[in-house]
Amino acid sequence: MVEAKPAAAPRSGSSFPPGFLWGTATSSYQVEGAVEEDGRGGSIWDKFVRIPGKIEDGTNGDRAVEHYHRYKDDIALIKELGCKAYRFSVAWPRVFPDGDGKPNPRGLDFYNRLIDELLKNGIEPWLTLYHWDLPQSLQDRFGGWRSTETCKIFGDYSAYVAEHLTDRVRNVFTLNESGRFVYFGYGIGIDAPGLTLPQADVNQIRHNSALAHGLAVQAVRAHGRRGTRVGPAENIDACIPAIDTPENVRATEIALRELNAGYLNVIMTGRYTDAFLKYAGADAPKYTDAELKVIGSPVDFLGLNIYAPQHYIVASDQGAGFMPLPIPKSFPHMNSDWLRVGPETIYWVPKLAAKIWKTDAIYITENGASGEDQVTPDGKIYDTDRIMYLRNYLAQLQRATAEGVPVRGYFLWSLLDNFEWVFGLNKRFGLYHVNFDTQVRTPKLSASFYRNVIARNAAGV
Ligand code: BG6
Repeated sequence: MVEAKPAAAPRSGSSFPPGFLWGTATSSYQVEGAVEEDGRGGSIWDKFVRIPGKIEDGTNGDRAVEHYHRYKDDIALIKELGCKAYRFSVAWPRVFPDGDGKPNPRGLDFYNRLIDELLKNGIEPWLTLYHWDLPQSLQDRFGGWRSTETCKIFGDYSAYVAEHLTDRVRNVFTLNESGRFVYFGYGIGIDAPGLTLPQADVNQIRHNSALAHGLAVQAVRAHGRRGTRVGPAENIDACIPAIDTPENVRATEIALRELNAGYLNVIMTGRYTDAFLKYAGADAPKYTDAELKVIGSPVDFLGLNIYAPQHYIVASDQGAGFMPLPIPKSFPHMNSDWLRVGPETIYWVPKLAAKIWKTDAIYITENGASGEDQVTPDGKIYDTDRIMYLRNYLAQLQRATAEGVPVRGYFLWSLLDNFEWVFGLNKRFGLYHVNFDTQVRTPKLSASFYRNVIARNAAGV
């Protein structure tokens, strides 16, 4: 008789791993305001928001949520949540008003004050170098990301930031969501700078953004303090299997690699896939081996912004072997049409990403939900829809970590309601409600929910 072996102790899975990093995120143009203060130069968003019809409600980020002046109060809110980390971005035109040339010490000083205040409150600063507010001067002189000149200048700016801030900032993200700002900004014209260029140009610009990422990685390595870590923060095309069978999972894995071939895959592997080049054909970007080497500079972690799912199944009759499924009209979504609710997205995407790109450190750099957020007569915001969304996504993230997927931290988008790009002030993503007239911040019920998750280090299901 064979003696039954005792089953290996199951990992409990009832909480996140010890030391899991809980954070929240914002970006400069969306929260700071003060666009003309302390020598800040203009950005492409300052100009774009003034084109009639571009912003849904006709607003702009001139004032945003006055974080530039209210940062101390806002840091108190981060502390109140129990977050150990805050992801913010540096506004390039504050530090270099023209993008290059003479730095502006008063601009840099804001980030010195912000970082010091975070550290004073026991919160780690996680810095993003670029969250879309390109200095307008670089757009005027070089066509922005159309030119590799902008990439080189971005490398210089990154070196400067690394030199001055990495005595206190240990973790740096390069570019936020290159996939979005390239396509929306240069392909379909709905983000700044609002251009609609042919596909070949868009592919070249995406290549330039990957090059900019690589140059920033090298600049941080060369000019940052020893031990500074650096990686991307990308809005990954979030492919997930519609049905959990080995064939569908395998097909989805290939889809994830190929759909992200123009940015994440090339930066993680230093090469474009054959399928990507074949599909792009005559529109493929022009590049050199030396550029690929820079683009593929090793990173310390992979930052993923994860929101809506795109479902896939295996398709043996199609060349690629995978098939994207159409989105049913009745698919549930939050207060933005694009924000389809698919909690398992945050399980599958990190799991497959870790396998494809062999990384042992993934951070969820954004995840969150927009809601209608009605204020009750007694001034409360009972955003149970956001709580439902977060609870389900976090449960799936917890499931991933319990299986050993190397997700090390989570930054909730967003700390505050803010200027949501083309939606203006119409979409609210914050844990804290902002009255845009008075600038008063009020915690939504979801802030208490998130505080409880952090305190228990568990999604609470
Ligand atoms: C991400 C961006 O795309 O999603 C954030 O990095 C943005 O800056 C968030 O605020 C929500 O997107 P949107 O388009 O609804 O404002």
